[in-house]
Amino acid sequence: MITREFFDQYVERRGTRSIKWDGCNAKFGVDPSVEMVPMWIADMDFKCHPKIVEAVTRKAQEGIYGYCVKPDSFYEAIMSWVSRRYHWEPKKEWIIFTPGVIPGFTLAIQAFTQPGDGIIVQTPVYYPFMDEIKNNQRTMVENTLVQKENGSYVMDYEDLEVKARDPRNKLMIISNPHNPVGRCWTPEELERVGNICADNGVIVVSDEIHADLMMKGYHHTAMCTLSEKIRQNTITNYAPSKTFNLAGLQTAYTIIPNDKIRAAYEAQLNANRIFNMNWFGPVALETAYNECEEYVDALCDYIDSNKQYFNEYIRENLPQLKVTELEATYLTWVDFRGTGMSTEEIEHFIAHEAHIGVDMGTWFGTGGAGFLRFGLSCPRCILEKALDQLKSALENHGK
Ligand SMILES: Cc1ncc(COP(=O)(O)O)c(C=O)c1O
Repeated sequence: MITREFFDQYVERRGTRSIKWDGCNAKFGVDPSVEMVPMWIADMDFKCHPKIVEAVTRKAQEGIYGYCVKPDSFYEAIMSWVSRRYHWEPKKEWIIFTPGVIPGFTLAIQAFTQPGDGIIVQTPVYYPFMDEIKNNQRTMVENTLVQKENGSYVMDYEDLEVKARDPRNKLMIISNPHNPVGRCWTPEELERVGNICADNGVIVVSDEIHADLMMKGYHHTAMCTLSEKIRQNTITNYAPSKTFNLAGLQTAYTIIPNDKIRAAYEAQLNANRIFNMNWFGPVALETAYNECEEYVDALCDYIDSNKQYFNEYIRENLPQLKVTELEATYLTWVDFRGTGMSTEEIEHFIAHEAHIGVDMGTWFGTGGAGFLRFGLSCPRCILEKALDQLKSALENHGK
């Protein structure tokens, strides 16, 4: 059984080729002799479920790593998981293997838009959305989220209507739930977006990679559960990588119920010759989905308690910071503007004075200045260390 103690264990990741740990100092330009606390990039400092480790080890011990088939068991595990956890029933032929969610949405950009076409995103947002729009010479169209008085974020539907109506805008990529602002979008919110897009011929890409990571009291809504009209206009990207800590195994999948959209997407996949799986990711996915569901529930409890700890610590010790209510994901979005520092100073301070590696607010585009994103997917001892370092660095700042 997976208990709290499992997630409490400190696992040494330095020297393992982990980008989060071994790439941290270089990423932030901090001297290699400084021991930073890495809370950037979205992977977890927890071991995988022991059953996944065993299954991958067994596969590795076969000792031959030639080309492999895509077995039925891979699709069956996905169909069962999506139906159990996300409450819809994809058919096998709707499911397409991809080596990652980023390649998954990039293929949609390439298949359904031409250079110069507009793609709508809701900033501040997971920066690879913006990077891939730019890398493919498309135009980013922002439907910026609105921050309310209490710090929570909502969508601007009037602005979205105007942008969706513009025939130059062909695609919308939505982060559901939202990275970095932590919103678990409600069915009503998603339905409005889905209908605005469907009514204006804008295809929706729903990135649901964080769908399993729900804080207490929140439930994920899959875009494809809302209506047949919305389902026929939606491309959904999923992966077991955030939930089960498998990002380095490069195994994700896209689900497309609409035959015409799916055919165009598959043609793009073939044009890039992306069809080979690796040996380990699909084995890990099947084991995770078929045998490790208990891990998800225990993990969400643990992250939720880290969230409570983080929020209380900040409330009691660092009232100049404001934490946005985290509804989903393990990534918490913190407003540092109350420190009186400029955006540049905040981003320098966190790495060079507090020695914590975080995702900088400005990476997420409009609305990100003055914010930092902290990953809470770590044992409590790491979180305590980071918060103590943050407190003492803030006390010493400017002295
Ligand atoms: C919203 C979102 N999409 C995609 C990814 C990465 O997907 P992958 O590693 O499967 O390409 C992340 C990772 O943090 C993410 O937060």
